[in-house]
Amino acid sequence: MLLAAAAVFIGSQLCRHCHAEVFDAYARTPMARSSGRVESVPAAQFMAAGHRYQIAGRTLQFDGGSSTIDYFIGSNAAGRTYLRERDGYLFELPVTWYAQKQAWDASPGYEKDSEVRLTRAVEPTCLQCHTSRVRPVLGTQNRYGDPPFLENGVGCERCHGPGSEHARNPAKSPMVNPTKLDAERRDAVCSQCHLTGEARIDRPGRKFSEYRAGDRLSDIATYFVWKLGRRDLKVTSHVEKLAGSACKTATGDKLWCGTCHEPHTNADKTQQACLGCHTEAHRQQERCATCHMPRTLAVDANHGVMTDHSIPRTGKRVAAPAQKTLVPFLGTGDDRALGLAYAELGDRRAKEFLLRAEPQDWPVRLRLAVLEPDAARAAQFYESVLRENPYEPAALVNLGTHLARLGRFTEAGQLWERALLANPALEEAVLNLAQIRSAKDARMLLSRYLELNPVSRKARAALAKLDAPRE
Ligand code: HEC
Ligand code: HEC
Ligand code: HEC
Ligand code: HEC
Ligand code: HEC
Ligand code: HEC
Ligand code: HEC
Repeated sequence: MLLAAAAVFIGSQLCRHCHAEVFDAYARTPMARSSGRVESVPAAQFMAAGHRYQIAGRTLQFDGGSSTIDYFIGSNAAGRTYLRERDGYLFELPVTWYAQKQAWDASPGYEKDSEVRLTRAVEPTCLQCHTSRVRPVLGTQNRYGDPPFLENGVGCERCHGPGSEHARNPAKSPMVNPTKLDAERRDAVCSQCHLTGEARIDRPGRKFSEYRAGDRLSDIATYFVWKLGRRDLKVTSHVEKLAGSACKTATGDKLWCGTCHEPHTNADKTQQACLGCHTEAHRQQERCATCHMPRTLAVDANHGVMTDHSIPRTGKRVAAPAQKTLVPFLGTGDDRALGLAYAELGDRRAKEFLLRAEPQDWPVRLRLAVLEPDAARAAQFYESVLRENPYEPAALVNLGTHLARLGRFTEAGQLWERALLANPALEEAVLNLAQIRSAKDARMLLSRYLELNPVSRKARAALAKLDAPRE
């Protein structure tokens, strides 16, 4: 009897034994170098979003505190963002290096912050695109093993599948070769990281982290885009743009990312690709992409410039439509997926879809709870969410608040404590808990939180109130 073994991830280093040439070439690409532990950062002084910063060694200093700089995300092809680690929990730092501008500035999304924000949780999805073999701790929002990921950047197995069996017996256990897959599975290899759409909704019971090269992405998630497209480019929109190009619609499955990009060397094969199909084209001595794939400012990349993959005839653009409807770009757009997608985008149309959703699993009930005006009914939704997912942070915090209003402080306190295990930077949970605990415990809680987030005005005020003489 020949029983098949399930392959597991072993890391790119082991591929090197037999594929040294590929390994060495790939190691120099931006994808291979997209993340890692910070050794040191060049000293700098700058302003970002109205706050003054200074970098010395691995420390970021600002008015009212400082933070270590522990991990980086981004090879510096366009820029580099940094993460801090506290007791295994990862948080994004508010400043980013922008390579094209050669300058530090606020991280995307931090441009308007009045406080230096240190508590934005780094959830596994972020690391899954920029690192390999991520190690999230179950029951938490942003805690990881030490180290948080076993391999820097995008490893070989992200495009070729887990390699343990192949490394043992290459002839008997072949790796996935993307070019030998059907078009949908082939394209998914790149889309797993290069497609975001407006919203990505995991199918019931499925998780994005389960995707392996060779799978169909549509079995795992639905990706939504606004109908009629949009004028502005998004950071990870290469897949959508290419899909809308006349070249792709006219040739179908033939054209894919690998037609122009050599993944192991990052070599650009575009010119030969254009001429391969457009044999009679004009201006054959010129670089076609200069005119037909112009570089444009991406709306959400803050100083980033991206290449337009819609391969337009001329640089002229159509205006964005005013009325927008979500449609699935990939996967099935049933009521559940549509409801969750609209809810993620803060669109009022969410509720009608969520009420019809099948199944009404915890992600649906969590959204319904948030949209529910009646406090008691919302609490029932939160309770049922926690029966399925006992660590859901928003459900823990909000159900706690509801119970505290009814005077059920013991239960509320337990929920808030559990929320702080999921993520110790949930400020609402800290502030609430401090109000129902003894002055001594409250002081400890608030001081501990202020170590994590030294600039929190609310925690400082709460601490000052505790220390103030009672009137
Ligand atoms: C012990 C040596 C060895 C190790 C370790 C090894 N390979 Fe291979 N690999 C081979 C050999 C030999 C072939 C050619 C097999 C054949 O053609 O039958 C091959 C073929 C491949 C192919 C081509 C598959 C195809 O169908 O075109 C890919 C992709 C590949 N390896 C990726 C990897 C990756 C990724 C790793 C690390 C996880 C790895 N290999 C580790 C020996 C190895
Ligand atoms: C596991 C996630 C992941 C997968 C799979 C992946 N990419 Fe990437 N890719 C990235 C990330 C992250 C970057 C940004 C790297 C950086 O600069 O930090 C990137 C950057 C790139 C770049 C730009 C390189 C440059 O010069 O700046 C190209 C081109 C690219 N990928 C092509 C591909 C193609 C083609 C595939 C499929 C065969 C693919 N990628 C699969 C994550 C991925
Ligand atoms: C769905 C996959 C995905 C997720 C999630 C994601 N990224 Fe990216 N990111 C990419 C890809 C792909 C690129 C390459 C940009 C492009 O399309 O040219 C990129 C580019 C970047 C860059 C510029 C890299 C460079 O060297 O030029 C930074 C910095 C970055 N991402 C940070 C983050 C951070 C921080 C998070 C999480 C909070 C995150 N990204 C989440 C896929 C992702
Ligand atoms: C971004 C996706 C991606 C990553 C990462 C990647 N590959 Fe590949 N690899 C491909 C694609 C696509 C092909 C098919 C290329 C073709 O035939 O045109 C391929 C083909 C191969 C082949 C067979 C053909 C050849 O070129 O020899 C081997 C072996 C291989 N890869 C090994 C590796 C190893 C080892 C690593 C890590 C060091 C790695 N790959 C990383 C996408 C990737
Ligand atoms: C896989 C084959 C293929 C590749 C590769 C390809 N094209 Fe096309 N392209 C087509 C086909 C087929 C059409 C539609 C028929 C036509 O207009 O010739 C088209 C249409 C076009 C159009 C007309 C667009 C419009 O909206 O009317 C332009 C411009 C164009 N291609 C330029 C390019 C450039 C520049 C490249 C390289 C960056 C390229 N194509 C790569 C096959 C391809
Ligand atoms: C017809 C050729 C062609 C195809 C197909 C193509 N690209 Fe590109 N891509 C380019 C060109 C040209 C550039 C700009 C390269 C440069 O300026 O060095 C580029 C740049 C990129 C970059 C770097 C960031 C940027 O926008 O400049 C990423 C990431 C990328 N492509 C991803 C993809 C992905 C993912 C696919 C498949 C969905 C894909 N590309 C398909 C031609 C192509
Ligand atoms: C200097 C800018 C420039 C360069 C370089 C350039 N094009 Fe064009 N191309 C244009 C413009 C502008 C048009 C639209 C012409 C029109 O509508 O009369 C066009 C039209 C086209 C069309 C549509 C033709 C038709 O009759 O439908 C194709 C296909 C095309 N280009 C392919 C290419 C290819 C392939 C290359 C590289 C070998 C290339 N172009 C280089 C500017 C350029």
